Amino acid sequence: MSFTLHSVDPSGARLGTLHLPHGDVQTPIFMPVGTQGTVKTLHPDDLHALGAQIILGNTYHLSLRPGAETVRDLGGLHTLSGWDKPILTDSGGFQVWSLAKLRKITEEGVRFQNHIDGATMMLTPERSMEIQAQLGSDIAMLFDECPPYPCDRRYAEKSLGYTLRWARRCKQWVDENNPASGSGRQSHFGIVQGSVYADLRRQCAEELAAMDFDGYAIGGVSVGEPEEEMLKAIEHSAPYLPADKPRYAMGLGTPVQLLEMIERGVDMFDCVMPTRLARHGIAMTPDGPIHIKNKKWEKDMRPLDVEGHPHVNRFSRAAIRHFFRSGEILALRLLSFQNLSFYLRLMAQARSAIAAGQFGSFKRAFISRYQANDI
Ligand code: GUN
Repeated sequence: MSFTLHSVDPSGARLGTLHLPHGDVQTPIFMPVGTQGTVKTLHPDDLHALGAQIILGNTYHLSLRPGAETVRDLGGLHTLSGWDKPILTDSGGFQVWSLAKLRKITEEGVRFQNHIDGATMMLTPERSMEIQAQLGSDIAMLFDECPPYPCDRRYAEKSLGYTLRWARRCKQWVDENNPASGSGRQSHFGIVQGSVYADLRRQCAEELAAMDFDGYAIGGVSVGEPEEEMLKAIEHSAPYLPADKPRYAMGLGTPVQLLEMIERGVDMFDCVMPTRLARHGIAMTPDGPIHIKNKKWEKDMRPLDVEGHPHVNRFSRAAIRHFFRSGEILALRLLSFQNLSFYLRLMAQARSAIAAGQFGSFKRAFISRYQANDI
């Protein structure tokens, strides 16, 4: 993998290209979440039509079902998912933290009861890297420990110790096994933790940078902290990461948060929000969210978003409301399509604004329209 940094806007926003085994990715970019090897309700051809460049899969879910060895024997995650462009996989620790029961962390790794059949399992740095190698993703994340919020200093230090020692073990496994993605080399991204403590975040970023990974993520954000703390966590991490490597803020965020992060030098994002809100009947548009169940759309012939995709815009708000209220799957598909199309357009617009050196004014205009919210 290589990363080309084309330009940096006066605001700090970066324009780049990631070169990966399954294709190039223009940054800043949003990665739709395909936890089980599919982006919920959408066909890979839909993702192509939306302009998706890279999607995300999950070690935790895929290793439980159908199993990492099974995915490998079926030709890898690209074959299973029908998606031929780049895939990033998360390493599993965070999903254990949010989904599994009776989690116990030791130096060796994390022992837990899985959320499907309650069986006791163990995930270690080596096993997480092995699973991600079997999945054959373009980018594999290191196995980290994500501390909760709030988190006292003692726990944050202890947790950071795990993350850094586990990063070394991941690196050693990768060096010994040279995992591949398609006909190329799998890339590996370190994850900066450190909770709300500026010095711990800096220490983590510097130590990971010295280990020389292909890219770096900022983790431990959007774990219940106020938005101000989230922005500070990025500010306490990003400046200590190498400028010539990609940076990824994990699990973020709202459209406005994404623009705030881009301005702080972040290149990559993923979040379940667009697809999850879709399944709850919320369409995201440049004029703010639309709650499609609302009676006010009952006879509204307008499309959800005049700037949106023709695939969605052949239906009126009234029609989508009717489908949603009737429990029709098409409503979930259309809303998922709309929300991801909106996120991916936002990234494309951000890239154009950075190329023109006008990210600051683009961001202000987007936010004032999005928050006026008179629909
Ligand atoms: N997804 C969202 N946050 C995190 C994190 O801190 N670590 C990992 N591995 N995945 C995440």
